[in-house]
Amino acid sequence: MQDAEQDILAGCRLVPLVVCGDERGSLVPIEAGVTVPFAIQRVYTVFGTLPGVHRGFHAHHETHQLVVAVHGGCTMVLDDGRDRRRVPLNRPDTGLMIEPMVWHQMEDFTSDCVLMVLADAHYDEADYIREYDRFVALTEEAHA
Ligand code: TYD
Repeated sequence: MQDAEQDILAGCRLVPLVVCGDERGSLVPIEAGVTVPFAIQRVYTVFGTLPGVHRGFHAHHETHQLVVAVHGGCTMVLDDGRDRRRVPLNRPDTGLMIEPMVWHQMEDFTSDCVLMVLADAHYDEADYIREYDRFVALTEEAHA
């Protein structure tokens, strides 16, 4: 973890990305095991989000993800079952690491928002917790 990373909630943190800039513009490399502490198994993008739409509303049992707003932005709401934080995500040079067992929701999308998400696992619906009450119950069990 680089010094500038800051723990926001339950290990979720903002990760500064290296920007290679010159007179032509900017380039941001993201490398498995270097920028992200996992082997990247999946990349997906979220874009064209309609006004007023909220997305997410789930946690993962196992999956780790790095979310980068490569264009535009949104607010990421993180919730560990006890505390909740709102994180503005609007910089192509910063990623947000979302740990397993953190409920997340996205809102306040700008119309030009493009999110790029890197994950350490293939898509598997069995890894999702989509009911908030069940999520809280599971976190309470873990804390007991
Ligand atoms: P969904 O989980 O509802 O998105 P969000 O959490 O952002 O609200 O996913 C939308 C659809 O896309 C749903 O049918 C599942 C599918 N999907 C995949 O096929 N692969 C993926 O990697 C992801 C994230 C979603």
